[in-house]
Parts: sequence; structure tokens; C-alpha cells
Amino acid sequence: MGKADIAVIGMDVMGRSLALNMESRGYTVAVYNRTAEKTKIFAETMAKGKNIIPTYDLKELVDALKSPKKIMLMVKEGQPVDSFIESLLEYLKTGDLIIDGGNSFFKDTIRRNKTLAEKGILFIGTGVSGGEEGALKGPAIMPGGQKQAYDLIEKIFKDISAKAYDGEPCVDYMGPDGAGHFVKTIHNGIEYGDMQLIGEVVWFFTNVGMKADEIADIMAKWNEKDDILRSYLIEITADSMKQKHQDSDEFLVDRVADITRMKGTGTWTVQSALELLVPIPTIAAAVFSREMSQDKDLRLSMAKKLKISSSRFNGDKKDMVQIAHDALYIAKISSYAQGIALLQAASKTYNFNLNIGRIAKVWRAGCIIRAQFLDEITKAYESNPDLPNLLAAPKFADFVEKNTGKLVRFVEVAHQCGVPALAMSGSLDYILQITSPVMPSAQVSALQRDYFGAHGYFKIGGTSKPELMLNKEGKVREFHTEWLLPGRPEKEITK
Ligand code: 6PG
Repeated sequence: MGKADIAVIGMDVMGRSLALNMESRGYTVAVYNRTAEKTKIFAETMAKGKNIIPTYDLKELVDALKSPKKIMLMVKEGQPVDSFIESLLEYLKTGDLIIDGGNSFFKDTIRRNKTLAEKGILFIGTGVSGGEEGALKGPAIMPGGQKQAYDLIEKIFKDISAKAYDGEPCVDYMGPDGAGHFVKTIHNGIEYGDMQLIGEVVWFFTNVGMKADEIADIMAKWNEKDDILRSYLIEITADSMKQKHQDSDEFLVDRVADITRMKGTGTWTVQSALELLVPIPTIAAAVFSREMSQDKDLRLSMAKKLKISSSRFNGDKKDMVQIAHDALYIAKISSYAQGIALLQAASKTYNFNLNIGRIAKVWRAGCIIRAQFLDEITKAYESNPDLPNLLAAPKFADFVEKNTGKLVRFVEVAHQCGVPALAMSGSLDYILQITSPVMPSAQVSALQRDYFGAHGYFKIGGTSKPELMLNKEGKVREFHTEWLLPGRPEKEITK
């Protein structure tokens, strides 16, 4: 069989599928798993007769590879990644490459990249999205690390990745050290947002009396060619909602517990947003909703203690379906605008040098958030890389300007019916805030802070002049009112 082109460590579903994908594109793949039994079973079943070399210790694995050695870790993020890196170091030489393909925390990736670079080992931290099927047939791949490290793996990644409708491979160099894992984290945050938004719309439909199969039909319609909502997540919502429960005549969705678990990437997205001062209310709402979903006992007991009145929906269902369709699209644009703003802020802080158009391009196929919509985002940033916000892209701005009333209506009716719509409201309020030259709530809280804590405030030119008051040097002028002194004199703070 000769020497292997690449090694995959970790024979769980993602590692196995990636190894098979690589082999199917003509590569010889060496594989290893800490528990030898898993490697053996893989070798004797799915990998049988294929150019896959099973190995049972790390030295054997490294020896099986051509130089420079390329080893891809598909193991659980955190300590297992560090421990494999540590063990591999004994067998690797300058110029060899380790790739971490798990959902690692980007700051760990920055640290690992630095430590390994000091030892002459190249390191790529890469997002791999698309689940089991994606890994097997073509995922979206988001690699970050040294450019020379990416050059070593580019061909294999291009060969195994998903291809967009125009044939472009869904992989691109994201940037240095933690860039790839950061982009994957935000991909997942956006994925949480999409899932929550769809969930709220479906819950609303259920609440107005629609059955699961009826909702599945609506979703299937929304996934038709050229529909603005067409996407993988809408497609699987339609498909899974038709599924019957195997032990009864009910739909499975009506028997699935209302608990959504999570492994961490959504929380990291929100943590980064807090660190970088970027509001992402839709994605945060999705994480908070998963948290609330997990407190089942609390909700069961609170539902008995507090009865919140709600009205029955008595409007036209057909109209409401159309309203929900456009409302969901606007909410989605808003959510992506938030995720992209976070990517841009991180790019500045961590010098990732991210290119939003190219990221959106990678997300067009293979990954969980794949959608026609991503092509529009790609085009928007290709024609204007300096857009202040996705919502300003002419095509989106036009739709949002014409249809925001529908999102307002959706949130209003959902709330009247007692349906929580945290993410839909978050998307709406994000649009309302970002398009407010003056945020009156902030004026009030700025004043309150100065009143109770002498924290100072800035001024604007007047009710019709929302721009900040500047001094001759172009700096923002800061003031404080002496609230406790007679006459409450105002003074300018000079530092
Ligand atoms: C993907 C998925 C993948 C995984 C998530 C699930 O892009 O292929 O996002 O990474 O399914 O980790 O995340 P939660 O368990 O946090 O929902």
C-alpha cells in the first residue's frame, strides 16, 4: 500500500467518516484510536479493502506516514487534544504538521499554535462542519494557522470538502493561529440562532392549532428552490417533523422532551461577544433559551404557581404563515449581521485578518447553516467589503425596510398568544437599536449613572442633531452635573 498521505487520530464517527472521505478521494490514510478495539473494528468493517492503514501505537502511526507528516486529530476538545499533541511530539520533526479538527476553544488553539511553533511544528486548528454525512461526503472546512501549514494541507482539504453550486470547494484559509476555530465557533453560534428562530416559528404554528405534518408541509414549501429561506435547517425541520413516533400514532416531535443540550460553542460565542463588546441578542437568546429548556423541573413547578393569561389566535392562519415567513427571513438577516459583526471585532482584536465574503463563501455548502442566503452574503461583501453591517447591504436593506412590520406583527401576536419569542424579538430589537441615531434608553441610563455615581456623560447637538459634541481637536466632550449642589451646575470634564 505504501506510505500514508495523512493520519487521522480518533475513530469516533467524525474521525472515521473523514478518513473514509479522504480515502475515497485517492489518499492513503493511517488511522489510530486510543482504544485499540475501535481501530480494529473499523479496519475489519468500513475500512476493509480500502487504502486505510490501521495502527496501534503512535510511533507506528507516525512511521506509516510520508514526510512531512500530516496528522489530523479528531478527538474531544480540551485535554485530549493537549495530551495527543504532547505524545506526538516525541516522534515529530521540524516542518511536520498537526491539525486539530475538533470544536476547540480558539484561545486554546492560539496557545497550541504558539507552543508548537517554538518547537518547529506546524499547527492548523480547523473547523469541520456538516456532521457525520458532511464529514463522509464533503464538509465545510475552516482552517487557521500558519499559511505554510495550510499550503501543506490545502489540496487534501479541497478534495474532501463540499462543493458549492458553482463548483467552488467549501474551504479557505481563514487566518493565523485561532482564526479557523473562531470562525467555526461563530458558525455554531449562528447555527444556534437559526435553530432557535425556526423553533419559535414552529412553536407559534403549533400554538395556533397546526399539527406537526401541516407545519412540515409549510417548512417543505419554504425550502423550495428559490425560496429566500431555503436552507439545510429548514429542510431537516420539514423532514423530521413528519416523523411518526415508533411506539404510538403520534408525531415524534410531540413526544420529544423540550430540552436542548449544548456542548459549548454557543456559550463561547456569547462569551466572546461580551469580551469584545458586540451585541448579539439573537444568538444570546438562543443560548439562554437552551438554558431555560434544560431547567425542566423549574418550569414544571412554575407553571403551577403562576398562570400567565394569553389569548387564542383568531386571525387568518394563511396570512400569518406568510407574515411568519418574511419575519423569519428578517430575523435571520439580523442574526447573521450580529455574528458577522462579532467576526469583524475579533478579527481586529486577535489580528485574524478575516475576510467576511470568503467566510460566507465557505459556508454556502457542506455545513449546518448552508443556505442559498449565504450566496447573497458572499455577493454583498464581494461588492462592498467595507459594509458597516450586513443590514446595510442594499438587497437586505431593501427587504428589511419593506417588511420589518411583519416581524413586529409576528412578535406581537406570538406574545399575545403566550408564545415566547426571545430570538425573534432579539432580532427585531437589534434592528431597531442599530438604526437609532439616538437611543433614548441610553440617554436615560447615561444620566442616571452621572446622577448616582458622577460617571459623566457625553452630549449631542440637540434633538435634531444626533451627532456627538466634539472639541476643537475632534475629541468627544465629556460633562458632569453636580446633582447635589444648589443650582446643579454643569462642568466639562477635562482629563
Ligand atoms: C457542525 C455542528 C457540530 C455539532 C455541534 C453541536 O457544524 O457540524 O455544529 O459542530 O453538531 O457541536 O453543538 P451543540 O451540541 O452545542 O448543539
